[in-house]
Amino acid sequence: MPDHNAVALEFLLTRRSRPAKTLVQPAPDRAAIAVMLQAGARSPDHKILEPWRFIVLQDASLARVAGQVEARAIALDKPQAEVEKSRNSFANAPASIAVIASPTPHETVPEVEQILSAGAVCLAVLNAALASGWGANWVSGWMAFDKPLLAQALDLQAHEFVAGFIHIGTQSIIPADRKRPDIDALTDWIEV
Ligand SMILES: Cc1cc2nc3c(=O)[nH]c(=O)nc-3n(C[C@H](O)[C@H](O)[C@H](O)COP(=O)(O)O)c2cc1C
Repeated sequence: MPDHNAVALEFLLTRRSRPAKTLVQPAPDRAAIAVMLQAGARSPDHKILEPWRFIVLQDASLARVAGQVEARAIALDKPQAEVEKSRNSFANAPASIAVIASPTPHETVPEVEQILSAGAVCLAVLNAALASGWGANWVSGWMAFDKPLLAQALDLQAHEFVAGFIHIGTQSIIPADRKRPDIDALTDWIEV
């Protein structure tokens, strides 16, 4: 049995996100973000297909994407509140790691498994950011799936989408924890 890692376990049992809108500057630098990417890339990945990749957004690129999101939201006739909310998700993010799901057809690894792997990457990046002492939040929205926006703003290919934007910055508050699931209600212990 491997060594009991009490620190890691305590982190996993108490971790929680910081809402994106409460994240402020300063943002993690390239070296700090590289650690998060390394943690993300250690995620389970059936047949080592690497069906995901990263796009790191910082200062100028966040401002550019925010403008493109706003323009696309207006073109889609989104209500003004939604235009502002979706633009601000990028304009106000100190930094963001977009985890791109990039599944490819495979004989034995179905697309759903490849997308699950991308989700695992999102959680690993998020947890690495939190464990590094940053505030972080996994967000999505229509911007994660809108093909024209993704092609224009992030140069995604047609089969790709954003599994998660992991917004990262300095935490301004530590919010009260949200209600957590009732494990007993979700679990069947099957003994025979
Ligand atoms: C795939 C996915 C997409 C999400 N998108 C959003 C979002 O767009 N906006 C939002 O407020 N929360 C979103 N959430 C929820 C938050 O990431 C997160 O679940 C919540 O803040 C509580 O996180 P915690 O359990 O780490 O504390 C999303 C979660 C997942 C798994």
